Amino acid sequence: MTVLQAELSFKAWTQAVLTRTEAALEGFLPPATTLPQRLHEAMRYAALGGGKRVRPLLCHAAGEAVGAPAEALDAAACAIEMIHVYSLVHDDMPAMDDDAMRRGKPTVHIQYDEATALLVGDALQSQAFITLGAPALQAPQQAALMRELASASGSVGMAGGQAIDLESVGTRLARPELETMHRLKTGALLRAAVRMGALCGPLSESNPAEREALDLYSAAIGLAFQVVDDIHDVTADSATLGKTAGKDAKDGKPTYVSILGLDASRALAEQLRGEAHAALTGFGARARRLGELADLVVDRAN
Ligand code: IPE
Ligand code: IPE
Ligand code: MG
Ligand code: MG
Ligand code: MG
Repeated sequence: MTVLQAELSFKAWTQAVLTRTEAALEGFLPPATTLPQRLHEAMRYAALGGGKRVRPLLCHAAGEAVGAPAEALDAAACAIEMIHVYSLVHDDMPAMDDDAMRRGKPTVHIQYDEATALLVGDALQSQAFITLGAPALQAPQQAALMRELASASGSVGMAGGQAIDLESVGTRLARPELETMHRLKTGALLRAAVRMGALCGPLSESNPAEREALDLYSAAIGLAFQVVDDIHDVTADSATLGKTAGKDAKDGKPTYVSILGLDASRALAEQLRGEAHAALTGFGARARRLGELADLVVDRAN
């Protein structure tokens, strides 16, 4: 962490990461003037100018904890965000959650059409891996980052979690199954964001104990994030969320709220906040941003 970054308030640090992430995404996405223009325009529509950018924030925070260069973190952060945006575009399609609003604007299949939305997801997925070939990353790091992102997005990660989510509509999952679904569909990419930030650090300084601590941290915030998303579906309004509220109950989705109720879901989020902070103790001040991000994730529930 540079002295300047260490002195920033959390708000100013967040703003700095958001600004550089937006600029980096702008550069890593093909221009809208490149053929096929409509596809590139739709990819940019989906990815630019919206979202909380929690995964890029986590990636930068973990990278700062291990002394990774900011340019390397930009590439890793943008790659994860592209996979995340692809997952949202497909999640909103009629075959999945059938949502008309995302990040405060019409979803891609509404603004464009369903075939374009499919292709936007496909192309963003490829673009994520192209992005990890950025020259700011050394070849061994590129390979490690690609492996990490591929497994977090695939059938034993995000896509697998989405499959369980869709199979579970209208059923009542037991709590362990619900937890598995959440850890895969949401937790896997959040964990990857942290691991990839750490992978951008100096290779020779890679420390197994620190990696384990970061894994414990990400397991806690990964689950907390989806618990809070489930809470928001019940407690927040569509304007605040930028997506249609109340959809989970309407669609018969098993969620933490449907299984535990609101109070126990909030208590679980608090417990996970504690676990996240406990995992970071060995890092001291280097993990300040990770700690602040754990608070950001959980405080959103209140
Ligand atoms: C929404 O993710 C989907 C989930 C994994 C819960 P975010 O809440 O991070 O969505 P954006 O990126 O801020 O739009
Ligand atoms: C989506 O979960 C998770 C992924 C997109 C991988 P949700 O379906 O709960 O996300 P929202 O509520 O539509 O953002
Ligand atoms: Mg969904
Ligand atoms: Mg959804
Ligand atoms: Mg949701």
